[in-house]
Amino acid sequence: MKVTVVGAGGNVGSNVALNIAQKDFAREVVMVDIEQKSGDRTIYPSKGRALDQWESAPITGFDTKLTGTVEYGPTEGSDICVVTAGVPRKPGMSRDDLLETNSKIVDQVITNLVKHSPDTIFIMVSNPLDVMAQVAHEASGVDRSKIMGMAGILDTARFRAFIASEINVSPKDIQALLLGGHGDTMVPLPRYTTVSGIPVTHFINEDRLEEIVERTKKGGGEIVNLMGTSAWYAPGAAAAQMVEAIALDQDRVFPCAVKPNGEYGIDDIFIGLPVKLGEGGIKEIIEVDLNDDERYLLDESADHVRSVIDEFKKLMNE
Ligand code: NAI
Ligand code: 2OP
Repeated sequence: MKVTVVGAGGNVGSNVALNIAQKDFAREVVMVDIEQKSGDRTIYPSKGRALDQWESAPITGFDTKLTGTVEYGPTEGSDICVVTAGVPRKPGMSRDDLLETNSKIVDQVITNLVKHSPDTIFIMVSNPLDVMAQVAHEASGVDRSKIMGMAGILDTARFRAFIASEINVSPKDIQALLLGGHGDTMVPLPRYTTVSGIPVTHFINEDRLEEIVERTKKGGGEIVNLMGTSAWYAPGAAAAQMVEAIALDQDRVFPCAVKPNGEYGIDDIFIGLPVKLGEGGIKEIIEVDLNDDERYLLDESADHVRSVIDEFKKLMNE
């Protein structure tokens, strides 16, 4: 199993690579980034991060070889490519503000990757996530089962972590589902949230749960305000979990940004839905029953993603 991470000189990409290596299921992780300027010196963040991480292998104990590069030749024959290349948001910015810069980067990165690994599976991370997945789909031409975005695992992890703190139980025991775009219109579903099978409403009253839902929707912004840039530990772990599910054919059920083929009445955009992930990528999009309120929120979120796509199309025509 060979995995490439592009943007791996940065925060999320380097954490994706390290999480994969520490799980030790891949033979090799190739870490790609561009060279950068630091004063009058040229630096190579992907090479530096790869070397630093490889030097941790004897201590934490893994075999997965990590190598850094600024070229695409070493990515040849990758089974899975994770793309975190692009700029993150700063305080006061929304994910959608990254559209112009990141769409150009993603288009270029995908074109390079597909040249060397035409059969690869893509996991997109760059924001605005749902639209970058669409840009990548168009640039790659791969089947929709082989391209997806990471957001739902992160957003449900935030929801699960907040609930775990609230009721003082292990976060491992919180199961949750979330639909929609990766933005403030995401749709956490308390009705599908349990604590080891017990409905979450047994533990938390509806008003407090609604506050936790709202905190989850703004969870990315909460970190940006604290750190001045966006999150990387939870995003890195989330993307690595998707890689693992595919590499080990685990048939895990996760919310991922995917392009449905009519499921949930959607076939034109990437959006967060529950899927089964295993060998070959997306094996199935799972359609759950939604009540009128949940359906309304999903439609609203889909419309928001469509509005960002319209903005992207306008930019392309300028
Ligand atoms: P970062 O700035 O630490 O890293 C981004 C890396 O991309 C940099 O090292 C940069 O040199 C590299 N890059 C830029 N242009 C490139 C190109 N043409 N080819 C190769 N590499 C290139 O940013 P961070 O925090 O790692 O975030 C990366 C992206 O992931 C951002 O767009 C951010 O918004 C997004 N993100 C998405 C999440 C999600 O849930 N989907 C969660 C967290 C971040
Ligand atoms: C997050 O949710 C910025 O999308 C990134 O942390």
